[in-house]
Amino acid sequence: MNELKERIMASSSSDLSGIEEALDKGLNPCLALISDVAGHILFAGGKRIRPLLMVLSARLCGYAGNDDKAVSVMFEYLHAATLLHDDLVDGADVRRGRQVSHLIWGNSTTVLVGDFLLAKTISIAADTGHMEIVRTISDAISRMAEGEIHQLANREKIDVDEAEYMEIIHRKTACLIQAACRVGAIFASASAEREKTMSNYGRDLGIAFQMVDDLLDYTADTKVLGKSTGSDLREGKMTLPLIYAIGRAQGKDKKRMQEIIRDRASSESAIHEMLGYLKEYGGIAYTSEKASQYAEKAKQRLAIFEDCDAKTILTDLADYTIKRKE
Ligand code: IPE
Ligand code: IPE
Ligand code: MG
Ligand code: MG
Repeated sequence: MNELKERIMASSSSDLSGIEEALDKGLNPCLALISDVAGHILFAGGKRIRPLLMVLSARLCGYAGNDDKAVSVMFEYLHAATLLHDDLVDGADVRRGRQVSHLIWGNSTTVLVGDFLLAKTISIAADTGHMEIVRTISDAISRMAEGEIHQLANREKIDVDEAEYMEIIHRKTACLIQAACRVGAIFASASAEREKTMSNYGRDLGIAFQMVDDLLDYTADTKVLGKSTGSDLREGKMTLPLIYAIGRAQGKDKKRMQEIIRDRASSESAIHEMLGYLKEYGGIAYTSEKASQYAEKAKQRLAIFEDCDAKTILTDLADYTIKRKE
């Protein structure tokens, strides 16, 4: 485990254990089947970044109570719901180091348990009694669905440009992280300026987060990552490393790249070959640089806040987002 991750985990250990406890308590399904399927994804690890961000944002904005953990788990339920649906749509096989739900319980059960988790999310939001929180969550849910649908509609499309990619990752990933940070601020009754700042911090962090996810898909170790690498190529997803590199390649290299994409190559050797092109034409370096810029921007936004523990952890989390290996 790297030093940065260790530091974040040590300084947020009581928040993380509070989140873990609340995740279990908040579920309350009426059927063992729901408990099995939801538990299979929820309690298989997972970084808990979204609920942790809500809790830290609330604290940074002055919240000092103890009710934040029970609310923050709605972000993990919502995240888990989208993972269940995303893995089905993507045809994934492994998530958080375990076989995916749809390969164990089938597609129908998986979709419906995803819906159950989605409903849990909305009811926790409603229980806060804050209309603004309900509004923020429902906006995030519809944006995420739009992002996933946009990505799905692009499956046969090779000429995706960077602007379109940015639109997709903002919706499918950054919106939820943005909502978690924003809800933390609302929960703490923060000023409009602070709420906006946390929302922007979350958006920038979320964009960096997905860019790194897209890098890790080509470069990570499957065991460490907890999900299969090379899946974006297999699924026909044009992500930034590939968009950038194919835009610069020419002649036979470009042809070969197009061929690998069209074939939905899944062999280790084809993925390795593609990684060679991504490095050669700067796709890896460009994407890491962009992710670093967004993480840096996120950190700078925190300047309006006084120094405190929550600010230090939120700063570390921005650094961790781009250095993580899982
Ligand atoms: C995976 O999210 C899905 C993306 C938005 C990239 P995480 O990388 O936060 O996954 P867990 O929760 O730690 O498993
Ligand atoms: C993340 O996109 C989108 C979600 C909302 C889950 P990916 O499809 O790249 O996420 P992973 O790699 O499956 O976690
Ligand atoms: Mg996926
Ligand atoms: Mg991915």
